[in-house]
Amino acid sequence: MLLYFDDEAAMAARLAAESGLNPVAVARHRFPDGELKLRLPPRLPGRVVLLRGLQQPNEKLVELLLVARAARELGARHLTLVSPYLAYMRQDMAFSPGEVVSQRVVGAFLAQLFDAVITVDPHLHRIATLGEAIPVADAIWLSGAPALADWIARERPGALLLGPDEEAGQWVAQAAERIGHDGAVCRKVRHGDRDVAIALPEVELRGRAVVILDDMASTGHTVAQAARLALAAGAVSVDVAVTHALFAEGAEQALHEAGVGAVWSTDCVPHSSNVVPMAPLLARALRQLPG
Ligand code: R5P
Repeated sequence: MLLYFDDEAAMAARLAAESGLNPVAVARHRFPDGELKLRLPPRLPGRVVLLRGLQQPNEKLVELLLVARAARELGARHLTLVSPYLAYMRQDMAFSPGEVVSQRVVGAFLAQLFDAVITVDPHLHRIATLGEAIPVADAIWLSGAPALADWIARERPGALLLGPDEEAGQWVAQAAERIGHDGAVCRKVRHGDRDVAIALPEVELRGRAVVILDDMASTGHTVAQAARLALAAGAVSVDVAVTHALFAEGAEQALHEAGVGAVWSTDCVPHSSNVVPMAPLLARALRQLPG
């Protein structure tokens, strides 16, 4: 059985079609004071998959707690969380004394609730495996980069792939190798939520079509700043491809003002820029789970 919430019905339908799982919506009521009442089918099969993307995560973490605990009481013995976007992975160390290391706390929370977690391009910077962040029996980490690379090869053949910061190096390397394009990575220093300083790599951008590739755009300022610099350096066009189209308020405007052309994303986070479906990969990962 595939449990899902109403606002993710489209992704649930795609995942159900690819995986053959039976999709069932969790009924959800919000009381006037903000509390949630959820209802699951009264009898659950032994293996249950819950689909919940964690963009806008705070309330959804409570949903996960309520659904997972109730699902066990209703018969589920093996619970898998499919979370195409996993939140709270960026705060992976205390940058100043007393700062909460959210990745560790949220990772441990999810590991208490689920037997398996499947996600796409989690922001793991200082650790090598998803299992280190979420210590479950099966922690599966997929990437949107290959499918985005194929899309870029069709739409912008020959474009230079540009990572807006060092952390994007992994996705740029993977994508560039797959489609045989050039790739390069900027250096970034973050001064605040909407304040980043970026330095271009030492590659010739004059006359090149450039596609900025990153795991996510949130405020859009990282991508916008990289785009501005690339255009000033003579790039003929700058388009953007990201796995997670978080796009906080004002992000699209920031990209537009920076001169960005097309914006493409996977459907991990529902958005008008979605062009690459992840359900086939997610379904394949579900089939690989033991048992
Ligand atoms: C961080 O390193 C990520 O890979 C993204 O570059 C970053 O989260 C984007 O954030 P924003 O769009 O707010 O600049």
